[in-house]
Amino acid sequence: MSKVTVVGAGAVGATCANVMACREVASEVVLVDIKEGLSEGKMLDMYQTSTLMDFDTKLVGATNDYKKTANSDVVVVTSGIPRKPGMTREELIGTNANIMKGVVEQIVKYSPRAIIIVVANPMDTLTYLALKASGLPKNRIIGMGGALDSSRFKCYLAKATGANINNIDGMVIGGHGDTTMLPLLSKATVNGVPVAQFASKKKLQEAVQATMVGGATLTKLIGTSAWYAPGAAAAMMVEAILHDQKKMIPCSCYLEGEYGQSDICIGVPAIIGRKGIEKIVKIELTKDEAAKFAESAAAVRKTNNVLHEIKAL
Ligand code: LAC
Repeated sequence: MSKVTVVGAGAVGATCANVMACREVASEVVLVDIKEGLSEGKMLDMYQTSTLMDFDTKLVGATNDYKKTANSDVVVVTSGIPRKPGMTREELIGTNANIMKGVVEQIVKYSPRAIIIVVANPMDTLTYLALKASGLPKNRIIGMGGALDSSRFKCYLAKATGANINNIDGMVIGGHGDTTMLPLLSKATVNGVPVAQFASKKKLQEAVQATMVGGATLTKLIGTSAWYAPGAAAAMMVEAILHDQKKMIPCSCYLEGEYGQSDICIGVPAIIGRKGIEKIVKIELTKDEAAKFAESAAAVRKTNNVLHEIKAL
């Protein structure tokens, strides 16, 4: 028996719930939203796909009723406003920090053993806030960004190299921001063979750039923030936790000296299993990558400082 709650029944939250239902990641999925009827409606609609998609996950909608989320093993927090075209993720902080605080309070009250996955933006800063506001141990608060950014990086690398997308390996670390994320070209491969063998430097640099503004590109096209890949990335992380997969996933983790950083949540490769973040993996960065990681951390820290200015911390 395992139970997952998704907070926020917008496009990202509903997609995450749907992917988890279809893959039977947990025995029960609860979707919570403040808007009357929205989560009940979406879960009823999803339930009606059970025989079509061949799953029997229990699906529950809950309008602001955290009692129904009690004893969740994992809680995914997607609630907050999404960015509009031209906005940065950092501009969402005022509204979303307040929402995050309220949500975390309810999660801890009803599911004191839960592992929390933060999806809402600005993701690294809200992960840091969730950690500080919840008082939970650092292994139980994980930010989703790197999992999503890495999946986007793989798409653009597949395009650049012409290789099958499922032969691509690639990681994005650093902050989940248009200028702060750090796609690790030095580690990217086609089935273990460095990507440099399959595409020009110029094409690979273009893939890096496209990855960094991947979310903004979609926001411009759609008119609001993306949901298929963000929802699936969060669902994949829940699966890694509940099935104790020990997968190496780049995600936002609280650092205490690793990668030369302390008192910050930022994307690094980590082993994800039943205890949440089970280990932070230290990988060798090139000189240039290490410098960019330090710059990224400085930018995330600047956004974290806003939490004090708005008295969220
Ligand atoms: C994105 C949002 C979820 O990158 O941050 O699409």
